[in-house]
Amino acid sequence: MATPLSTLLLLLSSFFTAVLSQSPVLQGTLLDCGASSASEIDGLSWIPDDPYTSYGVSKNLSISGLLPTLSTLRSFPFKASDIPCKFCYTIPVVRNATYLVRATYFYSGPGSPPVFDLIVDGTFWTVVNTTGDYANRLSSYYEGVFRAKGKRLSVCLGVNVYTESDPFISALEVILLENSVYNATDFNNNAMGLIARSNFGSTGPTIGYPDDNFCRFWQPVTGIMNSTSSNQTISASGFWNLPPENVLRTALVADPDKTMELQWPLVSLSSSSYYIALYFADPLFSSSRTFSVYINENHFINNLEVTSSGLMVFSSIWNLSGFTKITLLPRSTLPPLINAAEIFGLFPVKGLTIPKDVIALESIKKSILNPPTNWIGDPCLPREYSWTGVTCSEGRKIRIISLNLSSMGLSGTLSPSIGNLTALTNISFADNNLTGPIPELNRLKLLENLHLQDNQFIGEIPPSFSNLKSLRELFLQNNNLTGVVPKSLKLKDGLILQVLPGNNFTQTP
Ligand SMILES: *[C@@H]1O[C@H](CO)[C@@H](O)[C@H](O)[C@H]1NC(C)=O
Ligand SMILES: *[C@@H]1O[C@H](CO)[C@@H](O)[C@H](O)[C@H]1NC(C)=O
Ligand SMILES: *[C@@H]1O[C@H](CO)[C@@H](O)[C@H](O)[C@H]1NC(C)=O
Ligand SMILES: *[C@@H]1O[C@H](CO)[C@@H](O)[C@H](O)[C@H]1NC(C)=O
Ligand SMILES: *[C@@H]1O[C@H](CO)[C@@H](O)[C@H](O)[C@H]1NC(C)=O
Ligand SMILES: *[C@@H]1O[C@H](CO)[C@@H](O)[C@H](O)[C@H]1NC(C)=O
Ligand SMILES: *[C@@H]1O[C@H](CO)[C@@H](O)[C@H](O)[C@H]1NC(C)=O
Ligand SMILES: *[C@@H]1O[C@H](CO)[C@@H](O)[C@H](O)[C@H]1NC(C)=O
Ligand SMILES: *[C@@H]1O[C@H](CO)[C@@H](O)[C@H](O)[C@H]1NC(C)=O
Ligand SMILES: *[C@@H]1O[C@H](CO)[C@@H](O)[C@H](O)[C@H]1NC(C)=O
Ligand SMILES: *[C@@H]1O[C@H](CO)[C@@H](O)[C@H](O)[C@H]1NC(C)=O
Ligand SMILES: *[C@@H]1O[C@H](CO)[C@@H](O)[C@H](O)[C@H]1NC(C)=O
Repeated sequence: MATPLSTLLLLLSSFFTAVLSQSPVLQGTLLDCGASSASEIDGLSWIPDDPYTSYGVSKNLSISGLLPTLSTLRSFPFKASDIPCKFCYTIPVVRNATYLVRATYFYSGPGSPPVFDLIVDGTFWTVVNTTGDYANRLSSYYEGVFRAKGKRLSVCLGVNVYTESDPFISALEVILLENSVYNATDFNNNAMGLIARSNFGSTGPTIGYPDDNFCRFWQPVTGIMNSTSSNQTISASGFWNLPPENVLRTALVADPDKTMELQWPLVSLSSSSYYIALYFADPLFSSSRTFSVYINENHFINNLEVTSSGLMVFSSIWNLSGFTKITLLPRSTLPPLINAAEIFGLFPVKGLTIPKDVIALESIKKSILNPPTNWIGDPCLPREYSWTGVTCSEGRKIRIISLNLSSMGLSGTLSPSIGNLTALTNISFADNNLTGPIPELNRLKLLENLHLQDNQFIGEIPPSFSNLKSLRELFLQNNNLTGVVPKSLKLKDGLILQVLPGNNFTQTP
């Protein structure tokens, strides 16, 4: 479980360095959750989150001096009987592009902040627990990198057994990354959660936009070691990860002839695989230094020659556990140094329910007047958050295989879109108050059980039901059906058919 990264609470004016005249264009969606109007902060445009979610309520915090994005929030009231359930934002994205996703939280009471889950596109990402930052009056953020599987990215807050009060969110950013950034990661199967992004040797403020094109936060880290800084311009464009030039101007430097040992990141890591990128640049023009890099006594890279043009070394998968030590062993007269570093935890991304099934289920939801209240977000994923009454297949292409919504007090009609859920083997809407006609189901070749008894369905039994090859049980008693019971149904081999009492057929079967 990742610990949140924290930022300062009272941020009256500019947090970052002044906005340059030609700032890079940031592509993405910056949502100021709970806000009623758009705002411009340090050259970035924030918009209200209303159009991106249909859930929750807006709240204003009456604390003066708060950064505008923290002064409003959206809170999601839930009923204990709905646990687990999720509340989602849907953000338009470019399919297959890589996005930085950052969720920001600032809690102001009462009690302690809620603990809940964060879910992106059906993949469980992290537990949000801002208790520690709240005690220090800090805001918290979680940042991850995800590949968009479709034209929309969903970000959901999940209510779980440990959620005691309404989950909330202060800001949500979904920022497009350039193709080369972190491109060694297999984003089709993994996503990354940020653990630390450090600007070594800096005593200045956190570096963000516009120094960083993608609004990544580089937090200053000084230590017991000597720092150095330079005024020369290092072109970071040659670095695939495109770090801001500013972070390459400062470094931690070892003493002459000494090895540098750095405990980094500051937190203890859970046993898992990590992405690590280290950035080096010699502050002296036309000088160079050579050293070897170890991580926890393991060779990371040998005899690295660092010049003033700088370089980046990375591992897209590196197993770590507990506290981590980075060792820079000198191989030249000039001592080793380190300018910046990033570390992310890797986690597997799950598939998504196939869009055709999601669209059909959304239509069914619309035609029912009182659908189950946890029918939000992906119907199947994460598994522990699947919709009430919906059973899904395993594997990468996830399908809806069963719908059991018997005795749920449902009213409204049954959408003909149910006929598009071609992987269904069981349907039960028994003992509800559904009315309207029984839809055509002639494409449901796998359907074995259809239980629609004890409702108020009207009209005739679709004659095509006799062509449903796998059908074993058809229960339709106690509705308002009329017309004739097709003879072919009555004669169908191995079918258990119940159509009476409670209908008004013109011929008794
Ligand atoms: C929050 O403040 C804004 C501006 O003052 C106001 O328009 C909005 O109605 C307030 N929202 C709530 C939930 O009080
Ligand atoms: C997205 O990636 C998938 C798998 O990597 C590929 O099959 C598909 O064609 C790509 N789509 C686009 C629009 O690039
Ligand atoms: C949240 O974090 C605090 C410490 O910061 C811890 O004491 C508490 O148990 C955590 N809550 C949950 C539900 O994990
Ligand atoms: C990452 O991007 C760089 C720069 O565009 C390119 O040279 C490199 O081949 C890419 N690496 C991978 C693994 O795609
Ligand atoms: C960088 O420039 C500033 C002002 O231009 C100067 O005060 C500082 O000493 C310079 N630092 C280095 C390392 O040259
Ligand atoms: C680092 O600081 C120590 C004293 O704290 C000094 O002896 C040493 O020369 C310094 N090293 C560099 C590279 O400036
Ligand atoms: C790293 O850990 C993964 C499981 O998390 C394991 O499959 C893999 O073999 C490990 N790699 C190394 C080099 O130890
Ligand atoms: C549907 O759910 C009800 C209540 O959970 C259960 O009693 C019934 O056996 C289920 N029906 C099917 C066909 O799975
Ligand atoms: C159907 O609706 C009526 C009146 O609204 C209600 O009394 C009854 O309990 C409902 N039946 C079911 C099965 O939900
Ligand atoms: C079933 O899906 C097709 C596309 O796959 C769509 O054109 C059609 O409108 C859908 N039918 C219903 C009743 O939703
Ligand atoms: C169903 O039939 C009963 C009795 O004929 C009638 O009172 C009721 O209004 C009908 N319901 C619907 C939804 O048509
Ligand atoms: C059954 O249908 C017939 C005509 O089709 C009608 O006369 C009769 O009233 C209906 N009975 C009920 C209980 O709805």
